[in-house]
Amino acid sequence: MDFDVIIIGSGPGGYVAAIRAAQLGKKVAIIEKYNVLGGTCLNVGCIPSKALLDSSEHFHNAKHHFAEHGIKINAPKADLKTMIGRKNEVVEKMNAGVEFLMKKNKITVYNGFGSFVDKNTVKIAKTDGGEETISGTNVIIATGSKPLILPFMNFDGERIITSTEALNLKEIPKHLIVIGAGVIGAELGSVYGRLGSKVTFVEFASSMIPTMDGTMGKELQKSLKKTIDAEFNFDTKVTKIESNGKEVTVTAENKKGEEVTFNGDYCLVSIGRRPYTDKLNLEAAGVNVDDRGRVAVDDHTLETNVKGIYAIGDVVRGAMLAHKAEEEGVLVAETIAGQKPHIHYNLIPGVVYTWPEVASVGATEEELKASGRAYKNGKFIFKALGRATASGDTDGLVKVLADKETDEILGMHIIGARAADMIAEGVTAMEFRASAEDLGRISHAHPTYMEAVKEAALAATDNRSIHS
Ligand code: FAD
Ligand code: NAI
Repeated sequence: MDFDVIIIGSGPGGYVAAIRAAQLGKKVAIIEKYNVLGGTCLNVGCIPSKALLDSSEHFHNAKHHFAEHGIKINAPKADLKTMIGRKNEVVEKMNAGVEFLMKKNKITVYNGFGSFVDKNTVKIAKTDGGEETISGTNVIIATGSKPLILPFMNFDGERIITSTEALNLKEIPKHLIVIGAGVIGAELGSVYGRLGSKVTFVEFASSMIPTMDGTMGKELQKSLKKTIDAEFNFDTKVTKIESNGKEVTVTAENKKGEEVTFNGDYCLVSIGRRPYTDKLNLEAAGVNVDDRGRVAVDDHTLETNVKGIYAIGDVVRGAMLAHKAEEEGVLVAETIAGQKPHIHYNLIPGVVYTWPEVASVGATEEELKASGRAYKNGKFIFKALGRATASGDTDGLVKVLADKETDEILGMHIIGARAADMIAEGVTAMEFRASAEDLGRISHAHPTYMEAVKEAALAATDNRSIHS
């Protein structure tokens, strides 16, 4: 065999698996169909979206909040071209970083499209035109996902777009219609809303970010209504999208069963993503997929039905998140090296990088109710925080859900400034199976946003928050 481990796909799942396998002494190859490494997350996902979120947030603050802090400036103008240029530079820096890590760990990189010849052999159609076939004792499928688009949505990549195009627009839409008020809809809707677009959300479910704790969606909607020109249409199912090259018309059915239409100049389709296994020739290796097209894997080892072939990240079941893919990459590398690693899927946090940010870990209140588990609910609002009052970021709350009898923390849900970073305390506490009282007894620096976590934990323990 040429390699101990061949990895197809260089996203956060693939490249992290490659590094960990190399650290464990394996001879590793990674195959990436593009000329840049890092996958969806680095090139058209996590990193570029956060770069644009940060730029648009600076613009929004300059326009709406500098004055209240006593900073007087002329009305700022949004220069989208520069923002996109800066975003591209951020991505390029990170591409170089991943390339450096591959070299440092002596991982062989092939830029080309990989497909199975048999269970140990992968053919690479190289981006420079050549072809090469390599063999490996183990193969890790880390081919990720692509945006989900339905045929009646008439995707054209110009006016009817996905997140990929939305990260590279040439102009700020006047009126952006967002289909799906999930994570991408909320984040990219925020970007253009802050830059001045009117944003109309058309969502099938009854709230924004419907898979998260219900309070989060409601609070996020309230905040967005205050910060951007947003309109929300829930319980509304899109049936057709059409464009005449300048305008877009979205046809949908509302909860009364009536036909409704929305007109704008751009339409962002963000209704989820599909696992990507196109032309991978899984059949040649005998690898099974499930009823949703995801590579079927053993829940503990992530091995497919074929011995020595594993799959990780967006292409398998579970949350489509970069850090979930990374954990799975590490797990498979360690499994191949004979270790017995484990992932607590319940403790993988989810974050939405809107303003305010939303972050969650563990069970939602809806899930606890449905399971019949007796629980306590401790809340603390940002308005009562010294740090939030000082900065002017008073929207938001922390919710701590704990078992009614044992006080063990079962879930934490935060909407507010820096929620994305704050949730790590909830994850750590839950990883060590802390009680709400444990968390409430830990000293938290004052004044910080993190004090809201302590206060919510105290509220959950015995309704003994100090500042509410
Ligand atoms: P991917 O990152 O999709 O990588 C797969 C790679 O495999 C790609 O580079 C692809 O070109 C390559 N490939 C596929 N088939 C082949 C083949 N046959 N041969 C060679 N190469 C192949 N997640 C977060 O956790 N936080 C965020 O803030 C966040 N923001 C996001 C924002 C947007 C707009 C989007 C779209 C996604 C975001 N995500 C975020 C999700 C995150 O990007 C994915 O969960 C993550 O990239 C999955 O990693 P992966 O390694 O499984 O696959
Ligand atoms: P999503 O699953 O978050 O949201 C899709 C939304 O579209 C849902 O609310 C759904 O009810 C709605 N929908 C589906 N069909 C519809 C229809 N026909 N009409 C109207 N609404 C419809 O998926 P999204 O936002 O596309 O993101 C894809 C994935 O990327 C997510 O699973 C997420 O994990 C990942 N991602 C993560 C980010 C983060 O971690 N911050 C940021 C962006 C994406």
